[in-house]
Amino acid sequence: MIDVEAIRAQFPILSRQVNGKPLTYLDNGASAQKPQVVLDTIQRAYAEEYSNVHRGLHTLSTISTENYEGVRGTVARFIGAPSEDHVVFTSGTTEGINLVAYGWAMPRMEAGDEIVLSIMEHHANIVPWHFLRERMGVKIVWVDVDVNGDLDPQAVLDAVTDRTKLIAVTHMSNVLGTVVDVATICEGARPRGVPVLVDGSQAAVHMPVDVAELGCDFYAITGHKLYGPSGSGAIFIHPDRMAEMRPFMGGGDMIRDVHRDEVIYNDPPMKFEAGTPGIVQTIGMGAALEWMMGVGMAEIADHERGLRDYARDRLDGLNWLNVQGRSAGKGAIFSFTIDGAAHAHDISTVLDKKGVAVRAGQHCAQPLMEHMGLTATCRASFGVYNTRAEVDVLIDALELCHDLFA
Ligand code: ALA
Repeated sequence: MIDVEAIRAQFPILSRQVNGKPLTYLDNGASAQKPQVVLDTIQRAYAEEYSNVHRGLHTLSTISTENYEGVRGTVARFIGAPSEDHVVFTSGTTEGINLVAYGWAMPRMEAGDEIVLSIMEHHANIVPWHFLRERMGVKIVWVDVDVNGDLDPQAVLDAVTDRTKLIAVTHMSNVLGTVVDVATICEGARPRGVPVLVDGSQAAVHMPVDVAELGCDFYAITGHKLYGPSGSGAIFIHPDRMAEMRPFMGGGDMIRDVHRDEVIYNDPPMKFEAGTPGIVQTIGMGAALEWMMGVGMAEIADHERGLRDYARDRLDGLNWLNVQGRSAGKGAIFSFTIDGAAHAHDISTVLDKKGVAVRAGQHCAQPLMEHMGLTATCRASFGVYNTRAEVDVLIDALELCHDLFA
């Protein structure tokens, strides 16, 4: 069991006030706060150890390169990748998925080929595939969730045809908290020769992830949700898929030799990392992942299960509040609307006056919102530092909203 007060003490921002009230930060789905060790790592990386990476033989460049490259192994441990060579650094999940779209999918697909997506994908796992639809005539095949927000893995596999070239699914919905049975999807897709890309942006924050056990081909994570800096991220790419990929962006670092009429690329994974990378962001992400593993991913998952159950019970006690997504094994992410005229933006504004930060709107998941027949929801998304007392603060603030708007 984690000591949540000891955890909270490591996050300076959690002791500030917002609108004269103690901050109750429930917008972790959008981005998480940073522990002191990450802030210190960033400060040290810039103040004492900064230089470009892979480019110099001087002392600072060597230190910077070692710190930066060391994160590859940290990411590999964090997601269970068999080797750090299977990890490509990115600026976040969006870049990771675009890398797969441009580097792997585009050269391998033609008009009439299909990509299977779930309806609850984030736009980051939709729009890159729309590029292929618009530009190449690739067909997007959608698989709906059921009334509880669950995605039946068999329905995903049933959507596979002879033209399917890729299945791309989230591991955890950023709107509903639904956890997708990715392992079953991968197991069913493998004999049919269909690779599986997993958007791990939310799942990797809340539960242990092992890409080898999942059996996926691509697994994308983003540092800013993992208590690390924005502009950092990584994607696991199965070596067989990496061998099939062509580079997405061209520039320094991803090459070995460049001549007038010829270019020879660097070995993977650097073949897919062009230009000066997010050096300090990546080093900061490494500190964040080490911090999470130090707390323990199983312990984090256990703490958040307790929060989820408590929040679910308390939210269910508000009979004028509609929680979207009733999946039994969901993460601690709750999207809701309030009966009556209140728009999600109005609810969020009232909550903010009480120091409670939530997200309101479509959560970058418009097809899911359309599927649910909603234009907007409020979303409370929990993290490792949240407490039951903060659930109570949320409930009190929601009751105020109900009094004001209903
Ligand atoms: N993907 C982030 C969210 O769900 C931004 O809010």
